[in-house]
Amino acid sequence: MSVYDASTYGERIADVYDEWYSELDTTGAIDFLAQLSGPGPVLELGIGTGRVALPLAERGIEVHGIDSSESMVAKLRAKPGGDRIPVTVGNMADVNVEGEFSLIAVTFSTIFSLLTQEEQLRCFRNVAARLSDEGLYVVEAFLPDPARFDRGQRVGLGRWELDQVVLEVSKHDPTRQRVDSHHVVLSEEGIKFYPVRIRYAWPGELDLMAQLAGLKLRERWGGWRREPFTASSIWHVSVYERAGI
Ligand SMILES: C[S@@+](CC[C@H](N)C(=O)[O-])C[C@H]1O[C@@H](n2cnc3c(N)ncnc32)[C@H](O)[C@@H]1O
Repeated sequence: MSVYDASTYGERIADVYDEWYSELDTTGAIDFLAQLSGPGPVLELGIGTGRVALPLAERGIEVHGIDSSESMVAKLRAKPGGDRIPVTVGNMADVNVEGEFSLIAVTFSTIFSLLTQEEQLRCFRNVAARLSDEGLYVVEAFLPDPARFDRGQRVGLGRWELDQVVLEVSKHDPTRQRVDSHHVVLSEEGIKFYPVRIRYAWPGELDLMAQLAGLKLRERWGGWRREPFTASSIWHVSVYERAGI
């Protein structure tokens, strides 16, 4: 792989994404987002294969999406109802869509796929420009845990099955808040690499980006089912609104 760009993650993982992440709490996410979305429309950044968007649309909510990977969007399109969701293929930092949204969501730490602070802040600013007056921006992300890494690296077991294992092989650069990883699938068919790069941020930095974009934190939870956000939370679901409200 010579170049890793915004589409690389999705292009490589599209064929296995739904299988690998079938155990995520999608129902909790849908209930949470449907409660907050009001009349819509809703925009999902990094809509992927429609794990969240499709069940939301099934509840009668108008859902739009942005994604950088044609292959992920093709998986969405192939599902029932997938062809009715308007999707813009592009970089979500641009939020290059027409109209205003009552809710914009970025789930499953996808905000961290923007690899610099500037790109993440640009995304916040462009989201703010696309929110209706009462609109909400919902960010689901993991809490960074640098203790996972030993001298800047980590090898862990992702999945174990009778005929394959998936290793997670990562390197960590705390100066740039970057983690560059491969999911490495080892099976009798051979070895396959699924790269993923992120720039993580603590909730406080996201809140500051929100402030710079004219937004403020309305609520923060430890998960989609409104678990309390505490020192032992490993995820957060943060809801931002216009600072003037
Ligand atoms: C972890 S998946 C999440 C998909 C879906 N939101 C979900 O929760 O299942 C991240 C998605 O974001 C897309 N993505 C990554 N970087 C992006 C970028 N800069 N702009 C738009 N989409 C991006 C990937 O192609 C992928 O579909």
